[in-house]
Amino acid sequence: MAIIIKSQREIELMKEAGRILAITHEEIKKIIRPGISTYDIDKRGEEVIRSFGCIPSFLNYNGYPASICTSVNDEVVHGIPSKKRILQEGDIISLDAGVIYKGYHSDSARTYPVGEVSEKAEKLMKATKESFFEALKVCREGNYVNDISKAVFDYITARGYSAVRDLVGHGVGANLHEAPEVPNFTRNRKGPKLKAGMTIAVEPMINIGTYEVEWLDDDWTVVTADGELSAHYENTILITEGDPVILSQAEGIEL
Ligand code: MF3
Ligand code: CO
Repeated sequence: MAIIIKSQREIELMKEAGRILAITHEEIKKIIRPGISTYDIDKRGEEVIRSFGCIPSFLNYNGYPASICTSVNDEVVHGIPSKKRILQEGDIISLDAGVIYKGYHSDSARTYPVGEVSEKAEKLMKATKESFFEALKVCREGNYVNDISKAVFDYITARGYSAVRDLVGHGVGANLHEAPEVPNFTRNRKGPKLKAGMTIAVEPMINIGTYEVEWLDDDWTVVTADGELSAHYENTILITEGDPVILSQAEGIEL
């Protein structure tokens, strides 16, 4: 599949999708505390997205039944919100969301502590976020996809963590998932060359223990094979000839 170079108009639409997505994350972050359910988070997220007249990217995508992926502790990604899943003090939760604005997607994820969490969990979340920003430094025209992968991989492995291999970042635009794949581990090839106008979701999924993952019986929830914690951090970015632009952000909202 060819990598689509976006027009200025498409980029503007993705910027607006990303702004609304950033606001959505900010709103759901506010309600995270021990005692609330992952269903409550999903409902609030969907409400915010729809309040802008937008559609949640994930709802019904390949049959996914919710708007926000809520993945707790050893759940890596694609956790399904449930009234029965009540957050506890000390949990960490990854929230992955997508917004469609006038036909264009933005995709981003954050991992948050629930109340007071262990130092081990704090360090994992911090390193996962930092690995994204390491990767961001090489996101520019003339570099290759593997430069992004290597930046995440090297940063993470140097700190004793492992990067999930069964799931990867991706191009994003009029479709949630487009070419190219953006792995968080290195391969012995450079991969596609980055060009101005490409829009990609860079999304380190980082485990404390093994990189191996398993799928639960719900066919969605991905968990670590060893039951150890996992964290996720993702933004939709635009490649340019100079510094990359984070499209999934809004003024006044922390990344
Ligand atoms: N951010 C996720 C990804 O890039 C999207 C969730 S998949 C869905 O794969 F099916 F839940 F929508
Ligand atoms: Co994604």
